[in-house]
Amino acid sequence: MTDIVIATHNKGKVHEMQHLLHLEDVKFMTLDEVHLAKLEVDETAPTYEGNAWLKAKTIGDKVRLPTIADDSGIEVENLGWKPGVYSARYAKGSDKDRCIKMLKELEGKENRNARFVCVIVYYDPEKNEKKVFRGEVKGVITESMLGDTGFGYDPIFMPEGHHQTMAQLGGELKNQISHRANAIKLFREWWETRSTS
Ligand code: IMP
Repeated sequence: MTDIVIATHNKGKVHEMQHLLHLEDVKFMTLDEVHLAKLEVDETAPTYEGNAWLKAKTIGDKVRLPTIADDSGIEVENLGWKPGVYSARYAKGSDKDRCIKMLKELEGKENRNARFVCVIVYYDPEKNEKKVFRGEVKGVITESMLGDTGFGYDPIFMPEGHHQTMAQLGGELKNQISHRANAIKLFREWWETRSTS
């Protein structure tokens, strides 16, 4: 059995990751469980990979356990594929404030293409091993906020091939199609081939 730490304070993400990451030979641990509930790592890098690496390396080196960290964001074509890595800081206040700002910026705009991107970094401090996995989901920004599950920009993001927002589709379906799910699938595939080789 391998212990792997999930390096995020975001309860929504911990929930999604634990749900998606049930591997028979792995026990996934939260920051609470490794007594780092109060540790904050500043996301100062200009890329998803840079920020995920900062978190995985800082926490992995502290607890001396394999650690996975992610960084994610939303990219909107009509906003020059921004806010991207700055999605959490796109507007002050709550997730709702950020959704409202994005809807205002896209008011009357026809092209509402967007994508969620997630980069996961796995870091094993004992083996000095680093692996990077990138997942994406394409979609459009809706004209108003719809649905009340999930977090962040879920109420204004309608994934390709669906007629409801992520917040309307709910956790079960989101966990099959999301950017995080896609990155985690790649991690799982790599882990499984690594464990059997
Ligand atoms: P971070 O990865 O914690 O830095 O989050 C970046 C930003 O992207 C946050 O404001 C989140 O709300 C948003 N974000 C990341 N993943 C999702 C998601 O699955 N749904 C909605 N918003 C997300």
